[in-house]
Amino acid sequence: MVWDFAEGAVLGDSSGSWAVSLGGELAGLRSLAATWQAGTARQADAAQHPLPDDSVELFFTDPPYYDAIPYSDLSDFFYVWEKRCLGMNEVALTPKDEECIVDEVKGKDRAFFEATMQRAMAEGRRMLTPAGLGTVVFAHKSTDGWEAQMQAMVGAGWTITASWPVDTECGSRLRAQDSAALASSVHLVCRPREDEHGKTTGGVGDWRDVLAELPKRIGEWLPRLSAEGVVGADAIFACLGPALEIYSRYSSVEKASGERVELREYLGEVWAEVARQALSMIFAGADASGFEEDARLTAMWLWTLRTGASAAEDAESAEEEASDDGDDSAGARSSRTTRLPGYPLEYDAARKIAQGLGCHLETLGGLVEVKGDQATLLSAAARAGYLFGRDDLATARRPGKRKVPTQQPDLFRQLGLPSDAEVEQEQAEFERPAAGKTTLDQLHQSMLLFSGGRGNALARFLVEDGVGAKAQFWVLAQALSALYPPNTDEKRWVDGVLARKKGLGF
Ligand SMILES: C[S@@+](CC[C@H](N)C(=O)[O-])C[C@H]1O[C@@H](n2cnc3c(N)ncnc32)[C@H](O)[C@@H]1O
Repeated sequence: MVWDFAEGAVLGDSSGSWAVSLGGELAGLRSLAATWQAGTARQADAAQHPLPDDSVELFFTDPPYYDAIPYSDLSDFFYVWEKRCLGMNEVALTPKDEECIVDEVKGKDRAFFEATMQRAMAEGRRMLTPAGLGTVVFAHKSTDGWEAQMQAMVGAGWTITASWPVDTECGSRLRAQDSAALASSVHLVCRPREDEHGKTTGGVGDWRDVLAELPKRIGEWLPRLSAEGVVGADAIFACLGPALEIYSRYSSVEKASGERVELREYLGEVWAEVARQALSMIFAGADASGFEEDARLTAMWLWTLRTGASAAEDAESAEEEASDDGDDSAGARSSRTTRLPGYPLEYDAARKIAQGLGCHLETLGGLVEVKGDQATLLSAAARAGYLFGRDDLATARRPGKRKVPTQQPDLFRQLGLPSDAEVEQEQAEFERPAAGKTTLDQLHQSMLLFSGGRGNALARFLVEDGVGAKAQFWVLAQALSALYPPNTDEKRWVDGVLARKKGLGF
């Protein structure tokens, strides 16, 4: 059922009904009532705050997430009705000019966002006592969004000391449907970069020292995040806080030449380090540097797209499969799996990941497709033409599919020889592509042979053509099995190939 009319049902008590909605509100109020204290709410522009200097111990803000939501337009949708209900005689709509977002229609670009956010962050620092604590909630999938927010904070004199991803996002919310939206928002913990008298501290940091400290810091955080179930893009963004602590403790960071290192350059290094360390986590125990660039990029790309939710789903589907005794050994498509054309990622994020792994997107034409600001990692199925020279080899000429003509065979039968058609059919059964150049190409070829039910060709490909003799082939298959989204054809195909390993003597 697709809801296309957003109004709570007055009768009944299904989700979204008045009874359920009101019940939720009341439960919230009741749990707050225990610690209830009267407060003061005031509307003000965050970039021009009415509170005096050094007047608060905590600055906690959930600012706009770059270009994610046009809040003021959205507010008007409700405001036009609310002001009537509240007996207000207001004609005006909600304030628009001061709104700190990126919205090209309103002429608000990244520079506007960064400058306005920096003024708001500077106001936060001004209000806070020197020993006070700040927390900024942020979530965004683009590197631009993160860079702009971080630049605003560092520029306003904050040192970021930690970042905690918190599962704030509802998995079933509209925004998360049919998209790889983030599962968490990151709480950036920060402190004013100033001494107890409010004087700015920091000095100039040495770029070499900053770079030397970075691997250690990421090395402490990534495994911890992974143990907490924070993976993929959520983990990358959660690493930005600890990484920024190193950079933002200085008022500026300089190279030996005296050249100033901009935040953008530093964040490039952070992405690269996270990519390197995540990759060695993915290929735990194996030497990740031994893989060709297409395998490294594929593994890291799929890892980036993972969310805590997909990891949980994965566990669920593994459980389901364990209890499923249906015949899924051939490539017959299961009703539970989806065939994806590819895995899209923001181009800039893909480029940064590739850079970190020493790969070049431009040279990986058969694997990555770039269109506008989006890069797509092609699925094995979408690569069939590239891998087989022609699209049909994986599936065509399946044994048993062709009818053997009946007139001619009699003569050959009498002679005890197979007919031409039988020979052709037998050959077709074993026909397979020339092994691809890289381990990933070979694995994708194997998966496609499996998907086409070409069991004999697959066995020969792995045994006689020597593809399965390389330990790396199986390590990559194992890693990708853990990385392909659950319930996809590719996950099932790679598992199908893995299932042949033992039987073929590897
Ligand atoms: C991420 S939302 C906060 C949502 C809030 N935490 C909640 O749960 O409802 C960001 C908010 O910042 C507000 N905002 C945008 N520009 C602002 C400005 N210059 N001053 C104050 N608030 C602003 C937006 O209207 C929006 O309500």
